[in-house]
Amino acid sequence: MLMSNLDFHSARDWSSLRRHWLLRPDVIYLNHGAFGPSPRRVLEARRQWAERLAGDPWDFLARQMAGHLAEARARLGRFVGAGGDDLIFVENATVGMNIVAASTPLAPGDEVLATNHEYGAVLRLWDRACTRSGAQLVIHPLTVPFTSGEQVVESLMSAVTPRTRLLVFSHVSSPTAVILPAAEICRAARDRGLMVCIDGPHAPVQVPLNISALDCDYYTASCHKWLAAPFGSGFLYVHPRVQSRVQPVVVSWGHTPGESAFSWRDEFIWTGTRDPTAFLAVPAAIEFIESLGLDEFRRRTHALARQAREQITALTGLEPLTPDEHRWFGSMASLPLPPGEAQPLQDALWQRFGIEVPIFAWGEQRLVRVSCHAYNTAQEVERLVDALRTVLP
Ligand SMILES: Cc1ncc(COP(=O)(O)O)c(C=O)c1O
Repeated sequence: MLMSNLDFHSARDWSSLRRHWLLRPDVIYLNHGAFGPSPRRVLEARRQWAERLAGDPWDFLARQMAGHLAEARARLGRFVGAGGDDLIFVENATVGMNIVAASTPLAPGDEVLATNHEYGAVLRLWDRACTRSGAQLVIHPLTVPFTSGEQVVESLMSAVTPRTRLLVFSHVSSPTAVILPAAEICRAARDRGLMVCIDGPHAPVQVPLNISALDCDYYTASCHKWLAAPFGSGFLYVHPRVQSRVQPVVVSWGHTPGESAFSWRDEFIWTGTRDPTAFLAVPAAIEFIESLGLDEFRRRTHALARQAREQITALTGLEPLTPDEHRWFGSMASLPLPPGEAQPLQDALWQRFGIEVPIFAWGEQRLVRVSCHAYNTAQEVERLVDALRTVLP
């Protein structure tokens, strides 16, 4: 087994976990939620797949690849609570969401409903899909601070109209880092006959996932965030009830080399010649993260996010966006900062203190989003707070 010689369980020495990553010693990386670097083991697993590919590309791509991808999908499916045959690998959540947009017939007057906590590119692609067909993207404001799950569901459902065709929401939101009550939202949406697409790049690992139980139509995620799989690995889950209607955004041969049986996945497995090694290394990333102990990972990284929340709130005096409960935020916390520009502050933290942390302008607010992965420490969070103390007026 790849991980058998790791000492996570025996030593529980989390502060030394950073040695498994190639992170530069002069950087305090509190930005795993944006781009999550892979540990050495995962990079090595990918390299080994690349060597096998290079050994006989025709044999690998035309005869072996479909079987290896099916195994990797099955492993990923067990991790996220979905049948492997209901998933396809895509390069990232953005590609997955574009496939959903290409597969959603919209007519003039139709509405796509989203929240004001969505990722900017997701809103942009739905706005474009709606504009093309005369439909409308409705961005419903979920006001902060959140108080209860029921309030979120009620507020969102109040924006549903007879013209709503699809509800799109983040499982864990990007600018605000809030865990939305996905199961409750899906239930309310299904009661109203609505189709649901969940934008989930931050959920795998941060949140225990059982996608089948959510009963959504689509779930898209990137594995190069919290799972720390290679960059360019993500997935799209499609519920069996809508598999026959999904459309590719890249059209190729429409069948998978080496497979004779037809499946809905055929259009998506072979999208022209590409490097499948990032997808094939996803099981190594799952194995790595599981070797840390998932519960322990969540407990520890939440404690760090909570530390950031407490110390930044003490510094600014500004109210956090959610109650102080694990169900509202996991390994990542977004905290309000005093008004000001976002980018110059992000640049200053990096240039003056070597701290990588994103600062967002979200509506009228300026937010700092602190991501805490296995390699982060309480001292790093303190360094961020000290730096903010220095640079904020
Ligand atoms: C909520 C959310 N959705 C979608 C994306 C897009 O992810 P990717 O760039 O991996 O496609 C991001 C990226 O940060 C995100 O935070």
